[in-house]
Amino acid sequence: MLHIDILTVLPDLLKGPFDHSILKRAQQKQLVELAIHNIRDFTTDKHKTTDDYQFGGGAGMVMMIEPIDNCLTNLKLNRTFDEVIYMTPDGEKLNQSIANQLSMKSNIAILCGHYKGVDERVRKHFITKEISIGDYVLSGGELAAAVLVDSIVRLIPGVISDETSALFDSFQDNMLAPPVYTRPEIYNEWQVPEILLSGHFKNIEEWRFNQAIERTKQRRPDLLND
Ligand code: ADE
Repeated sequence: MLHIDILTVLPDLLKGPFDHSILKRAQQKQLVELAIHNIRDFTTDKHKTTDDYQFGGGAGMVMMIEPIDNCLTNLKLNRTFDEVIYMTPDGEKLNQSIANQLSMKSNIAILCGHYKGVDERVRKHFITKEISIGDYVLSGGELAAAVLVDSIVRLIPGVISDETSALFDSFQDNMLAPPVYTRPEIYNEWQVPEILLSGHFKNIEEWRFNQAIERTKQRRPDLLND
């Protein structure tokens, strides 16, 4: 089973996303174990300080190394991490291939950054992988971690009831997913494509494949070049 530890100074921000729908069911079915840790619980001073002014001056607080080290050291008593990930806008950009690889690991730790970032020595000595969820800056790594965890967990076999459905997601073959329709067949004179009602499985598959290629060519030609 995949176990994910998340280190944050805002644990409440992360509770919501993991408590619903697919992520909730994955935990109930014991296909994944998610544990949220408050870095503040691993401070040693009476003010429970987790951040401080940056050396050399400049605006913005920096997360201190000691509470993070204490938290990680404590977690390492129970497990050996395959990856210790830091969520940061200057990390490697998340894609389906990274999510696939991480879904096959056993133990992952994810550190959520805040303020100006973390003391560089954390990145140098504790972090094995740095991930960005896109070229924009969030207030903290928590929402980014939730995105990463969601993208990983849904790929674990058994998490999605129809196991094949994750295989047909957009990006799984470097291709976008084809359009889908449901009832009614006609709405405001807008018809569902005839072929989907034909019951002819092979033709439907071929139509979907062609639609996927067409859509990818139009919207994300860069994917076809990969
Ligand atoms: N923290 C702040 N912005 C982020 C981003 N774009 N990706 C990952 N972590 C972040």
